[in-house]
Amino acid sequence: MSRKLRLEGKKAAVTGASSGIGRASAINLAKAGCDVALIARDIDRLNETAAEIRKLGRQAVVITADITDGEAVRAAVETAVRELGCIDIFHCNAGIYLRCPAKDLRMDQIRKLMEVDFFGCLNCVYAVLPHMLQRGKGHIVTTCSMDGKKGVPPDAAYVAAKFAMNGFFQVMRQELRGTGVNISIIYPSRMDTPQIRHVDCPGITPKGDPDMVGRAVVRAVVRNKGEMMVPWFSCKLLVLAEAISYRLSEWLIRVNHLAGTENEEEAINEAK
Ligand SMILES: NC(=O)c1ccc[n+]([C@@H]2O[C@H](COP(=O)([O-])OP(=O)(O)OC[C@H]3O[C@@H](n4cnc5c(N)ncnc54)[C@H](OP(=O)(O)O)[C@@H]3O)[C@@H](O)[C@H]2O)c1
Repeated sequence: MSRKLRLEGKKAAVTGASSGIGRASAINLAKAGCDVALIARDIDRLNETAAEIRKLGRQAVVITADITDGEAVRAAVETAVRELGCIDIFHCNAGIYLRCPAKDLRMDQIRKLMEVDFFGCLNCVYAVLPHMLQRGKGHIVTTCSMDGKKGVPPDAAYVAAKFAMNGFFQVMRQELRGTGVNISIIYPSRMDTPQIRHVDCPGITPKGDPDMVGRAVVRAVVRNKGEMMVPWFSCKLLVLAEAISYRLSEWLIRVNHLAGTENEEEAINEAK
């Protein structure tokens, strides 16, 4: 059965749908037949995603919410359920990135990272999970990161948040077995989105098109995949290397310059 048929008429919600991977996920879910609630803070950019989805003939509901605000997230889920009728698929995707060596990090920066990337994601889970459990069906997808499998410098705070997310969702997936609610964890490598526009990546791991991740989200739901690495080969290689030895994986990161470099022009623009 085609993906389109499998997801035709399903109702999805995506956080961080105003940009990058979230936008790609929302559009790919719509291409597969879903109506989609789009959640983020920037209403103009959410409306741009909504316009793309409506062109595909699907319903798009724009909802502004900050995922660090539990009340706002609960209200966003209520609005999505009211407008769409239910939520079959929820993609917890919104997040921020911080590139800074651990020795230079401040505690407030680390707390903010955890607040958005980890606790913000959990705000979404606890807002939508009762709805799915009550219906006895649903699928929660989360955008983790390769950084949630293997820490790459200089991303200590971001890596900590993504490791936390990875652990939480791995356990939740096992606990929810038999409830009808499924969990998929997506581990993208570096993708060409505004989040890392100030990072130049080595030729061996060039930035990928966020659309790859959007397509992976659809595949993960249709095939009920517990986890998906995007792209598969380079991510799996690093995980396999670490399974053999820490030293080997850290050597691979070092010799291939996987940390990437700061693109000064973009960093200056960002600081303005
Ligand atoms: N790009 C990569 O290489 C890469 C690799 C692995 C994993 N990821 C993960 O993929 C996810 C999406 O990142 P991206 O690369 O697509 O970045 P992006 O283009 O910067 O998009 C981030 C999205 O998150 C939303 N967001 C940020 N803070 C929010 C908040 N407090 N409340 C609500 N929405 C918030 C933003 O929307 P508003 O600003 O409109 O609120 C935006 O839509 C993140 O979880 C990121 O960690 C990215």
